[in-house]
Amino acid sequence: MAAQINPSILSADFANLERDLKTIASADAAHVDVMDNHFVPNLTLGLPVVQALLAVTPLPIDVHLMIADPDRWAAAYAEAGASSVTFHAEAAAAPVRLAREIRKQGARAAIALRPATPIEPYLDLLPEFDMVLVMTVEPGFGGQSFLDGTLGKIRRVREAISAANLEISVQVDGGISRETIDRAAEAGADVFVAGSAVFGAADIPAEIATLRTMAAR
Ligand code: DX5
Ligand code: ZN
Repeated sequence: MAAQINPSILSADFANLERDLKTIASADAAHVDVMDNHFVPNLTLGLPVVQALLAVTPLPIDVHLMIADPDRWAAAYAEAGASSVTFHAEAAAAPVRLAREIRKQGARAAIALRPATPIEPYLDLLPEFDMVLVMTVEPGFGGQSFLDGTLGKIRRVREAISAANLEISVQVDGGISRETIDRAAEAGADVFVAGSAVFGAADIPAEIATLRTMAAR
């Protein structure tokens, strides 16, 4: 399974996003965290900034919506050109309708689960999604420690996908680094978001390559 590394620009320099996107040119996508200060206690950026990023980078943009009203906003990010749009299960009023709207706009649809949110209610709906994001920290901030208690859920999600013969990515986000990426990969993740580990590295391309090698299965 080819591991994908999606650096989170939450740890980039917000005054120099175009410059910092160039430093992650060897990544598989740029992970963009949209936070609204309602769903999570932090505020980052929204659709106009994502549109501006799409205009200056050839990298696919992996949008992670940590917002209270994804039903209102998710399709617009797909229409703008994001390659994938992830919304939180806990926030969506109609997750299936939302996933279908995202796909209709040509993006991959993904559902995210906080550490305390179970996958079980969504298992029968897996064919509606292209990716499941298992949060490995509580969403809201970069630089937190990986929660080992989420490994069982990563494993259950991967097993359910395999059992149903589906081709769905399992993304992990939060505390992913050289110290933790092998555990997440072993549990079944194949798309790895890393913010502080990538942007805090002295040699960013080398760090991306190292993480990708460590995650390969
Ligand atoms: C946290 C965000 C993450 C964050 C990860 O809520 O969703 O994408 O940037 O940062 P690190 O890799 O530093 O834990
Ligand atoms: Zn994220």
